[in-house]
Amino acid sequence: MIGVRCINLAKRYDDVVAVDGLSFIVNRGECFGLLGPNGAGKTTTIEILEGLLEPDAGEVEVLGLTWKQHHRELRQRLGVQLQETQLGDKLTVEETLRLFRSFYHRGRTLDELLRIVELESKRRSWVGKLSGGQKQRLAVACALAGDPDLLFLDEPTTGLDPQSRRQLWALLSHFRQQGGTILLTTHYMDEAETLCDRVAIVDHGKVIAEGPPPELIATLGAPKVVTHQGTLEDVFVALTGRHLREE
Ligand SMILES: Nc1ncnc2c1ncn2[C@@H]1O[C@H](COP(=O)(O)OP(=O)(O)O)[C@@H](O)[C@H]1O
Ligand SMILES: [Mg+2]
Repeated sequence: MIGVRCINLAKRYDDVVAVDGLSFIVNRGECFGLLGPNGAGKTTTIEILEGLLEPDAGEVEVLGLTWKQHHRELRQRLGVQLQETQLGDKLTVEETLRLFRSFYHRGRTLDELLRIVELESKRRSWVGKLSGGQKQRLAVACALAGDPDLLFLDEPTTGLDPQSRRQLWALLSHFRQQGGTILLTTHYMDEAETLCDRVAIVDHGKVIAEGPPPELIATLGAPKVVTHQGTLEDVFVALTGRHLREE
């Protein structure tokens, strides 16, 4: 069963080619990562798959359905966390979750959602008063409100401290164990290595390598002088001569 299928996706903004003939398949029950540096085209790609942007070319199927024909059904079955989710600062955590829950015919209870993301004690706090990690977990709770079959996450842990990242990773692993499918983007190779069954490394709007992280590392990432265990960073450097995160 296929979670996401996109073939030869293309999208340009004026003279910028953001996505340049991108293809991949995400199987149901799998966690698939789009890994690439800033500007690689990850957000554009995921927003097309989320039905938020129209591609210039290419085919998209999500859960075997198309946005053109099955827009309503897809909205009910997907959970979406945008790269910069803007939740209302002057709503409480509880009000925010009630609002998102109201978008879906079926879904999880408020108590369940609060428990899953460990925000029970923040129930009555204003969103504006939450820490970065708590806000991010709330954004994921909103994405889980309709008990989705497929979760889209755009850079779910960017900017988070190590403890908040691990907390979020644990909650995503739990979603997986219950049969959920995840498509996420990240520029952290350790995140991809930890969470993803398979990754597509994206650069300049194209997939330049694809496979399970250990396989990519074994075949492409072997540094000439082995001073450390190979990583996906080595794979990216081997393929492009650049580092994934130029800091
Ligand atoms: N709305 C937009 N208008 C013009 N250019 C854009 C827009 N959104 C993204 N881009 C450009 O498209 C390219 C891909 O961006 P993006 O998909 O956000 O990449 P990533 O998420 O991998 O950082 C970048 O060069 C970016 O500057
Ligand atoms: Mg992005």
